[in-house]
Amino acid sequence: MSAPSTAAVVAEAALPDGGRLRILRVDASRASDVVPIVHAAFAARPPVEPPAAALADTVDTIAEKLDGGFGVVGELDGEPAAALIVELDGDDAVITRVAVHPDHQHRGIANALVGCTMDLLALRGTRWLTVGVRTEFPALGRWWRRHGFVPTGEQPPLEILRRTLPVMAEAATADAMRALGERLATVLRAGDVIIATGDLGAGKTTLTQGIGAGLNIAGPVISPTFVLSRVHPAVAGGPALVHVDAYRLGSFDELEDLDLEASLPDSVTLIEWGGGIAEGLADDRLEIDIRRGLDPEDETRLVFLSGLGARWADGQLEELR
Ligand SMILES: Nc1ncnc2c1ncn2[C@@H]1O[C@H](COP(=O)(O)OP(=O)(O)O)[C@@H](O)[C@H]1O
Ligand SMILES: [Mg+2]
Repeated sequence: MSAPSTAAVVAEAALPDGGRLRILRVDASRASDVVPIVHAAFAARPPVEPPAAALADTVDTIAEKLDGGFGVVGELDGEPAAALIVELDGDDAVITRVAVHPDHQHRGIANALVGCTMDLLALRGTRWLTVGVRTEFPALGRWWRRHGFVPTGEQPPLEILRRTLPVMAEAATADAMRALGERLATVLRAGDVIIATGDLGAGKTTLTQGIGAGLNIAGPVISPTFVLSRVHPAVAGGPALVHVDAYRLGSFDELEDLDLEASLPDSVTLIEWGGGIAEGLADDRLEIDIRRGLDPEDETRLVFLSGLGARWADGQLEELR
């Protein structure tokens, strides 16, 4: 009989410097892996008064936190290098520890752990994610803001930041993906910017076809790989669909050359594969990440929808679950 699984590999992340991070989801039985990372990371910070509670963590306090949610551990070459704890409370989740070992900071590891945690929370249908940041470290607050968190108040000595989690929808077939696009179109309006990411063949263009049908535009929507940008006017009024493929674009400057800003106010602008490039176009934007599961035989796509900024603050995506 095998021992019960207490750590499952949930992702392999390529770090910007070429390192490979193995990300595991862990429960309380792995508390002893987490404690030394937490102590090392928090001891390396400038001292604050009162001291961070994390410095007094023990296997018992960490196990208790893990029991209230789960942990995510990042391993480099089989060694734990970073850890995050998230505690669950109904629709809400709170990140209560984020620690990267001082030897491995500034390598994008926290970024990978937070991204993976948001995926895991989206999969279980959690709506909100909250974090508290010491006000003595404004750079930390800025880091969370870059990840879509918005300050919601203070609980001295912490600033509290919060964001909505991606809504996760499943599309088992290409037709289901088009149907999802049609449903999404019902909440879209002129001025919206959508950034769709995912590997080649993920289903970005298929989803766009559904959005086009929902907006009742002059079709057909085809992959604009050779024509960088295509404008589809609506047949009976309503916003046009501007469909862009940014795959071949190397920089934001090249995207700006397309002059999308001119058509933006009167259109729904959808950019395929714009992750990392197109964010500069609009603060209010809908990011859609389409992924396949690990089984190559299974054509089901997981579609993660994140609405950023005031435009999407009212839970308009909830009905797409
Ligand atoms: N569940 C699914 N969702 C989307 N597309 C699917 C699905 N299952 C199979 N497919 C097929 O996968 C391909 C997706 O291609 P496409 O939408 O052009 O991807 P992308 O634009 O992301 O490169 C299409 O041939 C589509 O018919
Ligand atoms: Mg495409």
